[in-house]
Amino acid sequence: MIKRAIYPGSFDPVTNGHIDIIERASNLFDEVIVAVSTNIEKSPMFTIDERKEMLSSACAHLSNVKVDGFNGLLVRYAESNGAIAIVKGLRALSDFEFEFEMALMNRRLERRIETVFLMTNAEYSYLSSSIIKEVVKFGGSVSGLIPPIVEEYLAKKLGSIESITAAGG
Ligand code: PNS
Repeated sequence: MIKRAIYPGSFDPVTNGHIDIIERASNLFDEVIVAVSTNIEKSPMFTIDERKEMLSSACAHLSNVKVDGFNGLLVRYAESNGAIAIVKGLRALSDFEFEFEMALMNRRLERRIETVFLMTNAEYSYLSSSIIKEVVKFGGSVSGLIPPIVEEYLAKKLGSIESITAAGG
């Protein structure tokens, strides 16, 4: 039986912290599906398709990693894809409470799927998609913290936001 895991998230956009978790998960499982979804608490900068394109390009070196998108409950998606585990990254104590809550709810919804937490690489412990977007918006450098393809997408997106603003839209 193939041991398949789902690594879900908003990935708005993917950072090198996410890539580190994906690489490590790909060593633990036969197959990892990186599943892009909408977090109802957040308003995204990128569409699901753009986020999937960035992830596919950044994960091209990992032959057992697939990129997909889903709507609805994570456990239903995991179950319908024959996954045995959900992988989550933990950066700091502040992540723990919410992740703990979600893991327990997901287990209540579907007992057969385990949530597996991987500790972040210390190098990326302060990194988040939100902080990347903020630094880039104000012209700071995020070089080395995001895959090169994400730099291109951010430049394009911010260029288009500026032209929309300049046009009064
Ligand atoms: O990267 P994020 O924003 O922390 O990812 C959160 C995400 C998308 C993994 C989470 O919101 C999620 O699992 N959404 C799917 C809906 C669902 O199953 N919610 C109940 C979780 S207990």
